[in-house]
Amino acid sequence: MEHAEPDPLGPRRRRLLVTGAGGQLGTALRRAFADEDVVALTHADWDVALPPPAGLAPVDLVLHAAGWTNVDAAEDDPQGAAAVNVGGTQHAAELGAPLVHFSTDYVFDGSKRTPYVESDGPNPLSAYGRTKLASEAAAGDDAWIVRTSWLFGETGTNFVRTILRLAQERDELAVVDDQRGCPTYVGHLAAAVRELVELPRGVWHLAADGDCTWAELAETIVAEVGLRCRIRRIASAELARPAPRPAYSVLRSERPGAPRLPHWREGLRACLERLL
Ligand SMILES: NC(=O)c1ccc[n+]([C@@H]2O[C@H](COP(=O)([O-])OP(=O)(O)OC[C@H]3O[C@@H](n4cnc5c(N)ncnc54)[C@H](OP(=O)(O)O)[C@@H]3O)[C@@H](O)[C@H]2O)c1
Repeated sequence: MEHAEPDPLGPRRRRLLVTGAGGQLGTALRRAFADEDVVALTHADWDVALPPPAGLAPVDLVLHAAGWTNVDAAEDDPQGAAAVNVGGTQHAAELGAPLVHFSTDYVFDGSKRTPYVESDGPNPLSAYGRTKLASEAAAGDDAWIVRTSWLFGETGTNFVRTILRLAQERDELAVVDDQRGCPTYVGHLAAAVRELVELPRGVWHLAADGDCTWAELAETIVAEVGLRCRIRRIASAELARPAPRPAYSVLRSERPGAPRLPHWREGLRACLERLL
């Protein structure tokens, strides 16, 4: 019986490419996969609306975290959003390596009142949601397509950081109370992605456990930090934002062995610990 000789250099580290590496999820992915050989490409390194620069291959895994994420701005410039979200995903797939692509709860219309699972039919309400649904097709059948929701982390622009700043400046904040979802900490999502790449490909829902409205999340942030700011609960219509959002977009997985993420309150605490 023959035995393979152990490689004196140890097992080869995978070469991973992270797009959108300067974004909040890209930053968390770089951290979660820090023991691998990570090629981190920011927007300045590769505008994904353009074909990939020469010399990136060979790559063992592509974590495609780049995207047009300004939901309201996509209403005014749907083609610009599509160039990044659809064209960019196609370009990432063209690298020919196994691909993890990130999509959104905004592919759903929010008419359900029980959690959305992978087999539920999408019906996006916004231009952003339509580009993200089309991006899933661009990623192809052979990719891991991660639908996630309401991301926050220590970096970038997100709800948690915005509320922290505003709650220190004001006595009262008006926050919408008629959208319900799963606020997901990017550190927890990135850890779940490590598990996911050992599982079969296809669409997976990966979002924090539990659910809440934006107003409930804001109240929890203020309470955790011990600020005095009052949260006034309002309806989305009062904000009159350009893009409609689903009223209910709680995500759960129906797939066997799906990675489970901690509760959003745990994610919030983990994020605040790093922030404060
Ligand atoms: N944020 C959420 O609540 C949420 C929810 C569900 C799904 N997702 C999805 O998760 C992924 C990551 O989102 P995120 O929250 O990390 O967003 P983010 O913080 O806005 O990061 C997105 C990154 O993509 C970069 N980018 C934008 N246009 C690009 C282009 N043409 N070429 C290359 N890079 C470009 C941005 O760079 P610049 O800032 O320099 O432009 C930014 O670094 C996206 O696919 C998003 O659709 C997000």
